[in-house]
Amino acid sequence: MLLQGRVAFVTAAGAGIGRAGALALAAEGARLVVSDRDPASASATAAMILSSGGAAEAMTLDVTDDDALTRAISDTASRYGRLDILHSHAGIQIPGRLDQITTGDMDASWRLNVRAHFVAAQAAVAVMKVQRSGSIIITASNSGVQYDREMIAYATTKHAVIAMSKQIAVDYARHNIRCNALCPGFIDTTFNAGFEAQMGGRAALEDYVAGSIPMGRFGTMDEIADSIVFLASDRSSFMTGHALVIDGAESL
Ligand SMILES: NC(=O)c1ccc[n+]([C@@H]2O[C@H](COP(=O)([O-])OP(=O)(O)OC[C@H]3O[C@@H](n4cnc5c(N)ncnc54)[C@H](O)[C@@H]3O)[C@@H](O)[C@H]2O)c1
Repeated sequence: MLLQGRVAFVTAAGAGIGRAGALALAAEGARLVVSDRDPASASATAAMILSSGGAAEAMTLDVTDDDALTRAISDTASRYGRLDILHSHAGIQIPGRLDQITTGDMDASWRLNVRAHFVAAQAAVAVMKVQRSGSIIITASNSGVQYDREMIAYATTKHAVIAMSKQIAVDYARHNIRCNALCPGFIDTTFNAGFEAQMGGRAALEDYVAGSIPMGRFGTMDEIADSIVFLASDRSSFMTGHALVIDGAESL
């Protein structure tokens, strides 16, 4: 197994890509702390891991609470004696153009899509520096390498968090800490509800995906989970500061 003995902390692990990644990390032998704002969802993910013979504990955590986020990561490291992997995944998508969204919408986007990753990475780096190893994976989006229509808050914050991931990579490479940005394209989860509404419903979204993505389909959660395992493990040991785009060529 690729991650035997490693300890991983995941945010927004109660559904979608966060959950799929947590299950895949556990299947490779990592011990998981699966956190989510929704307690039942976090518990369900932990139960899925335990029932397949893995090691996991659930934690209720809203990543917009700086102190709770910092404490959750440093307590995890203290209790397990190490922290090898941080997958900082929670994010928000508020659709709209400059003249359609408010400063409050922009602040909310920044808070989740940039600031919470900053706080999580800061807590993880404090542990990983002493340990002299670690892999930080920050979920961005292919919206961080392209420009979507009428998505100013999302595209701006996802571009920003890729820049931050690269800066973390440069600053901590000498400490043997890697930091990469995960950039999925369209993955069929509840996360796309806002975009679906903006498009005019499910059928319109499916038409859009079929027509605008060169591979003609959504990506699957498992396809992203494979990349999470890759970035977490020594399979990517010389890769840092990379924005790994997995989007069926949508952004090309
Ligand atoms: N699904 C996609 O197509 C797609 C594409 C690119 C990037 N992403 C990114 O992936 C992340 C989430 O996508 P998903 O598809 O896994 O979503 P999802 O809707 O399937 O799951 C989101 C999870 O996040 C949790 N959550 C929401 N706000 C939170 C908070 N403040 N603190 C802690 N947990 C919180 C929810 O409870 C839920 O369990 C976001 O960062 C998003 O930008 C998704």
